[in-house]
Amino acid sequence: MISEWGRSRQFFERSQRSLAGGVSSPFRRNLAETLFFQDGSGAEIQDIDGNWYTDYVLAWGPLILGHKHPAIVEALRKAVEAPHNYGAQHELEFVVAELICSLIPCAERVALTSSGSEAVQLAMRLARAHTHRNLLVKFEGHYHGWMDSALLSYHASGTEIGPAQKPNVVLGSRGQVPNAADNIIVLPWNDLQAASAVFAERGDEIAGIITEPVLCNSGCLMPAEGFLPGLRRLADQHGALLIFDEVITGFRIATGGAQSVFNVIPDIATFGKAIGGGLPLSVVAGRKEILELIVDGGVVFGGTFNGNPISLAAAHATIAELIRDKGRTLGEAVKSGERLMNGLREAANRRGVPLEVTGFGTAFSVHFTERSSLGNYRDTLGDERMVLRSWLRECLKEGLYLLPDGRMYTSVVHTDEQISRTLEAFDRALARCLAGATAQ
Ligand SMILES: Cc1ncc(COP(=O)(O)O)c(C=O)c1O
Repeated sequence: MISEWGRSRQFFERSQRSLAGGVSSPFRRNLAETLFFQDGSGAEIQDIDGNWYTDYVLAWGPLILGHKHPAIVEALRKAVEAPHNYGAQHELEFVVAELICSLIPCAERVALTSSGSEAVQLAMRLARAHTHRNLLVKFEGHYHGWMDSALLSYHASGTEIGPAQKPNVVLGSRGQVPNAADNIIVLPWNDLQAASAVFAERGDEIAGIITEPVLCNSGCLMPAEGFLPGLRRLADQHGALLIFDEVITGFRIATGGAQSVFNVIPDIATFGKAIGGGLPLSVVAGRKEILELIVDGGVVFGGTFNGNPISLAAAHATIAELIRDKGRTLGEAVKSGERLMNGLREAANRRGVPLEVTGFGTAFSVHFTERSSLGNYRDTLGDERMVLRSWLRECLKEGLYLLPDGRMYTSVVHTDEQISRTLEAFDRALARCLAGATAQ
């Protein structure tokens, strides 16, 4: 069992003396230990105390091919020996764009950006420009990046959230301009009635609906039967656009994204994380007449690093690997993740622990909850977070590196053996939690 994190703790102390908060993204402060890493290979990652973990964080999603995948390493080796950035056009831009257009149902044109947050900004701007309207509908618990216009009602507390019939629009950060909330209507997810009521009242003011097609950022909740098609219908009836934020589902649930799995085609979709295989790349994809508003239609965006050859080389290698054998590799990764989900449910069942596992094979979440059905963010507010915390700590000691909210990402390189060992470790961690052996 792992119990030695002395060097990580020393590094963290030192880091806090120069780097704000000691981490490069505040979300990383919430893990069971603030670890520093020095190596990784396949599905394994090593901290600076020399401990190896099976990695289910995967850089918060991007590493769909794991660490140092030979195809990415080779592509990057070539890319670093060529100029790193032209700030101008080069072949790989349209080669990758063509690949995306061939795979993603809504993609007639794409635009390249660097982070998911930026891609969402462009998608929202395009929707507003196309419809000549300002209002966007977003859902509670969905994360669309940290910008003022998007960080609303992400993880509002039970006291902030307001009534389900008319949720409050809750700012996500100090320093955020309060009037960002004026352009957003917030609704509970998976509630088509609530969405229909809002459209009946204000449909002609609404530019679009933005949603994660699977609610990955609040417990990997799946869309209810008919919900996404219902949103599609509402948008069509009222001249609004449907935006899928596929920053997590893209190139993780299927090579065609969630839109291909649920067979609902949005007008615009955003991609990030897995598409770059670990390098910074994001994409806005969508209908031609909407995306063509860029440049000729007066929609402005920019980005010094947009289309940079290094990120595109990694994306090209990642996508090529994922579509090999008609997407068999990703399909198998989804199946082996499902094995993990089922094994965990069985272990909890055997031990009489109330637990729900939600999501799909390559992105799912563990909820310690008495509820048997979780449909939206409000349903997750009753999760036993203290139990989750102690289980996560026990898992860390077992050599499992997991996200702080109980989410787990798997990759195409997690082996059957690693999955089996993980299930045994989960069970031991569960047993120790039950025995109250959660000493820090
Ligand atoms: C669904 C979704 N959209 C947007 C973002 C923002 O992406 P980035 O962190 O690359 O800015 C994230 C990040 O987690 C996300 O999960």
